Amino acid sequence: MGKSTIILAIESSCDDTGIAILRDRKVLSNLVATQEIHKQYGGVVPELASRAHQQNLIPALEEGLRRANISIQEIDAIAFARGPGLIGSLMVGVNFAKGLSLSLGKPLIEVNHIHAHVLAHLIEEDGAENPSFPFLCLTVSGGHTQLMMARTDDNLEIIGQTMDDAAGEAFDKAAKILGLPYPGGPLIDKYGQKGNPNAYEFPIPQISGYNFSFSGLKTSMLYFIRDRIKPDPDFIQKNLADICSSYQKTIIKFLLQKLIKASKELNCSNLAISGGVSANSLLRKEFELLGKKENCKTFIPRFEYCTDNAAMIGIAAYFKFHKKDFSDLNITPSARMD
Ligand code: KG4
Ligand code: ZN
Repeated sequence: MGKSTIILAIESSCDDTGIAILRDRKVLSNLVATQEIHKQYGGVVPELASRAHQQNLIPALEEGLRRANISIQEIDAIAFARGPGLIGSLMVGVNFAKGLSLSLGKPLIEVNHIHAHVLAHLIEEDGAENPSFPFLCLTVSGGHTQLMMARTDDNLEIIGQTMDDAAGEAFDKAAKILGLPYPGGPLIDKYGQKGNPNAYEFPIPQISGYNFSFSGLKTSMLYFIRDRIKPDPDFIQKNLADICSSYQKTIIKFLLQKLIKASKELNCSNLAISGGVSANSLLRKEFELLGKKENCKTFIPRFEYCTDNAAMIGIAAYFKFHKKDFSDLNITPSARMD
């Protein structure tokens, strides 16, 4: 067996500053500094996100090394999320990575953030099974909604994606209509657990192939609430659990409908979910039930690897490291990665 590989990974594509250190496919430390500052604005403010990344990166790196019990000289490569994401946020991470690469004399590895969400499933953990290729991965977060076919670690194909809002936005925007604070996804989940999922009917979006669309669903929530609060101003307060439960059920049904369609048509029985929305309790439950019903293997990574994190950047870089797929120092971030 050869020497193990130590990778330092940096994630800064949106509003979470992440630093992770991996030894081969195992995570030694994985830190996320969540930026609380955006809460008061009801959404991510790009300018503030960049500034917070700048403030967070050095303390996170120091803490990450300490927790991993690794000295900076032991690192074999520096990985970073090149995109997609907010350009200012990405810029901070990319420049930080370049500075480290230059000063340590270690190679630089660019990672596509979307690919990393999928490859997060290949992080090695004691007692947990990893999916084998090929597997289908539904990535659902505040920034993306993608159905990917993972054939190998470097053959990841987007087979379906959202035409408008991301699944997380469908949660967050509906939550805003209900007067809940940002990000509202976890709150819709929390209230929804206590409600009746069949209390109200929201239309399942109709869209071809493996694609998604959520803007109509959000609009249907807007009209529904507008019509109900006219005669009863306390309608939301009185029925919050039922509204959340019914709305959430519709999103989950829609997501899983597409996943199972792809599984059957593409003959792939390894199914995975990732992204912040995969924290949703109903999605987790229904996903596992679907696996049992359809005789498919289901995989959900540990929650800290579901939301934006640097460990997933590290695992994606691990595969590139062994192919010597390095980036040079004039690499620039890319807000959209095609
Ligand atoms: O992956 P993530 O942390 O960041 C990116 O957007 O990339 O995902 C955040 C999204 C937000 O839209 C948030 O509302 C949603 O994930 N979310 C949830 C839950 N937890 C987080 N949505 C529904 N149910 C949850 N339990
Ligand atoms: Zn993400």
